[in-house]
Amino acid sequence: MRVIEVLQEASLRVYNNVKHLAGTEESGGDFGRGAGGDISRKIDIVAEKTVLDYLKEIKFDCTVLGEECGRVELSKNPKGFIIMDAIDGSTNAVRGIPFFCCSLAFATDNKLSSITDSVVMDLSNGEMYHAIKGKGAFLNGKRIHANEKKHFYFVVGLDMSGISQDSLQQLAPIISASNHIRHFGAVALELAIFARGLVDVFVDLRDKLRITDVAAGYLIALEAGGYIIDKSGKFLDSDLSYKSRISFIAAANKEFLDDIVKKLKIR
Ligand code: IPD
Ligand code: CA
Repeated sequence: MRVIEVLQEASLRVYNNVKHLAGTEESGGDFGRGAGGDISRKIDIVAEKTVLDYLKEIKFDCTVLGEECGRVELSKNPKGFIIMDAIDGSTNAVRGIPFFCCSLAFATDNKLSSITDSVVMDLSNGEMYHAIKGKGAFLNGKRIHANEKKHFYFVVGLDMSGISQDSLQQLAPIISASNHIRHFGAVALELAIFARGLVDVFVDLRDKLRITDVAAGYLIALEAGGYIIDKSGKFLDSDLSYKSRISFIAAANKEFLDDIVKKLKIR
């Protein structure tokens, strides 16, 4: 079984196991703080257990880095890391806002840049995004591309939840220049819809994201032809550590990227 098929099957099982939970009272609750630092909800726990049970069932040799469960060694000879945010957009999932996903990536080394396979499954409708390094990004098996059109960017994704006053100030020129700002509340799925060409640039300068939030969407966005840089203008990379906090700028093409970089004054 190929790695991508393992991720696809795991996310499909999550979809089937949480379908009935989204938007119900039962989906919430407080199950203590997970490894990523947020309160774990029932739906997070059910989804993570689904992935872990499946990986154990097929004896997949890996180390899991989960948003709630933390680091779980499933083998003495791991082939690599599964970076798991079994429910990204937990607040949406519990409220019943139809924008949340399962985000799974496989990395051969301790770096975001060593991710070779990833899947983001939209749990509100079962749409499956995947990417394989060097082979492209796909939605339900069909190739997708970030918006390659050269006209000015139009739909801008901004995650501003809990942003500092300084970073908000830095974003001001973009906010003023854009009539179509969007923030949906699940960063992995936001990167996937960026990769599909529905959003032209996506910016998160909060220094709050964890590797589990970003990993799967990162490869999908890159394989769709997008650019992703960090706050200092370098190609985005990070250690696969729970301490890492990530900010990024994703742009569908070089023209968009150059304009955003100019507006944010980061080079
Ligand atoms: C959250 C979502 C949200 C972002 C938060 C993340 P979670 O992930 O991606 O869009 O603003 O920073 O923590 O907690 O729902 O898995
Ligand atoms: Ca998340």
